[in-house]
Amino acid sequence: MSKSKNTANVRRKYDRIANYYDFFENEVEKRLFRKFRRGMLGSLSGKILEIGVGTGKNFPYYNKKAKVTAIDISPNMLERAKIRAKDLGLEVRFYLMDAQNLDFPDNQFDHIVATFLLCSVPDPVETVKEMKRVLKYDGRILLIEHVLSKNKLIALLEHIHNPFTRAFFGFNINRDTKSNIRKAGVKIQKDENLAFFDVFRKFTCAENRNCS
Ligand SMILES: C[S@@+](CC[C@H](N)C(=O)[O-])C[C@H]1O[C@@H](n2cnc3c(N)ncnc32)[C@H](O)[C@@H]1O
Repeated sequence: MSKSKNTANVRRKYDRIANYYDFFENEVEKRLFRKFRRGMLGSLSGKILEIGVGTGKNFPYYNKKAKVTAIDISPNMLERAKIRAKDLGLEVRFYLMDAQNLDFPDNQFDHIVATFLLCSVPDPVETVKEMKRVLKYDGRILLIEHVLSKNKLIALLEHIHNPFTRAFFGFNINRDTKSNIRKAGVKIQKDENLAFFDVFRKFTCAENRNCS
């Protein structure tokens, strides 16, 4: 299937589940994700671009002075995010936009944030290339993702369950995200284990072109 058809498919799936998305994730959000988000976002300042914002679950954890721009491919998810931002009194600029083809000039943002995005975009490598393009020279890309485990048993379970998560929720649980980030020419400065062996991870790239 072509990339544009795949992208349209992903958009349809998230449009369909937008009203239930927070409910589905409620338990894991309370037990795990909330802690991940708080740890990553609280200290960020400057111009932030959040890609694949979903229903705006990261919003409660941003510093109130942060200048957040948020994009998503799904109009219905974006609508939920707008309501959340309003409820929280957070000023956010919203755009309906494809992460694989960002409509921003080069070298714009101090931080690029994405949580559980690279598992759902049809082309994760192209998406990271776009992140790199719009990031300022001394900026940082911060990602939280669930990825393919190095443990053979866990990886097998991920492969077995992937057709289900993909069909019903639009995301993949068996992507080698670390290697996709590298293929995009972005060097990973920090790769942290967050939970569930090596499945939930945080990736930090501190400098777009020169990080070690
Ligand atoms: C698994 S959800 C994660 C939502 C949110 N970041 C969170 O942490 O709850 C993935 C989100 O990425 C969005 N998305 C998927 N493909 C996209 C694309 N090509 N461009 C922009 N957003 C996309 C989906 O619409 C959905 O809102």
